[in-house]
Amino acid sequence: MKSLRLKAIANFIDSHDAVIDVGCDHGLLSIYLVEHQKCFKILASDINQNALNNAINNIKRKHLEAKIPTIISDGLNSINTKSFNTLILSGMGTTTILKILSNKSKLLSINKIIIQSNNNLFELRKGLLKIGYLIEDELIVRENNIDYIIIKFIKGKTIYTSLELEFGPILINKKSSVNYYKRQYYKYLEIKNKLPKENLEIVNRIKNLKKIINNLEK
Ligand SMILES: C[S@@+](CC[C@H](N)C(=O)[O-])C[C@H]1O[C@@H](n2cnc3c(N)ncnc32)[C@H](O)[C@@H]1O
Repeated sequence: MKSLRLKAIANFIDSHDAVIDVGCDHGLLSIYLVEHQKCFKILASDINQNALNNAINNIKRKHLEAKIPTIISDGLNSINTKSFNTLILSGMGTTTILKILSNKSKLLSINKIIIQSNNNLFELRKGLLKIGYLIEDELIVRENNIDYIIIKFIKGKTIYTSLELEFGPILINKKSSVNYYKRQYYKYLEIKNKLPKENLEIVNRIKNLKKIINNLEK
């Protein structure tokens, strides 16, 4: 598996984790986890039969059918989650992810959730906090000129400021994040300069990014 993004997600998984790969698509992450003995057990699921067929074919090609069961399911709806403790939700949008996680009864045994959402990390962090998960770690992976944020949530309660919800409570304190925030800063500066009139939200975001960058470069 070549994807740096998927490898980074895999690095958040421990050998005692019983994992559900929700929205597995091609199944490459599940295969990688089993091939590298990264988890205790795994279930690969997807809402889409064509996607799951791709996963099933890839799993068969590697002769891993016995180790990677598959299931068609909208989120966790058709899955008995009781014997699993970890979820992976990657490559989906925040709305879909939060909808999947709104099925509370399915989360009783889940104490770790690894998420790579394609958008709206403020709402994602806020939503996970609301259902009883806090952020233990966050990571930026840059691949093909795209920044992916991967977040490890574990069960627990805390309070985050709106700055932390927007930019990441762990990331804003990691020196290695500075280039990511600089890219964000220039991106929003360009957006601001193209707008016909001042947009307060963008102006505030730029100010906050500058503050984060200055703090990291101290
Ligand atoms: C862009 S792919 C990401 C695949 C893989 N997780 C990754 O990160 O490379 C998104 C996958 O999520 C699946 N998906 C979307 N909504 C879903 C839902 N409600 N339940 C399960 N799978 C879903 C799609 O069918 C698709 O295969």
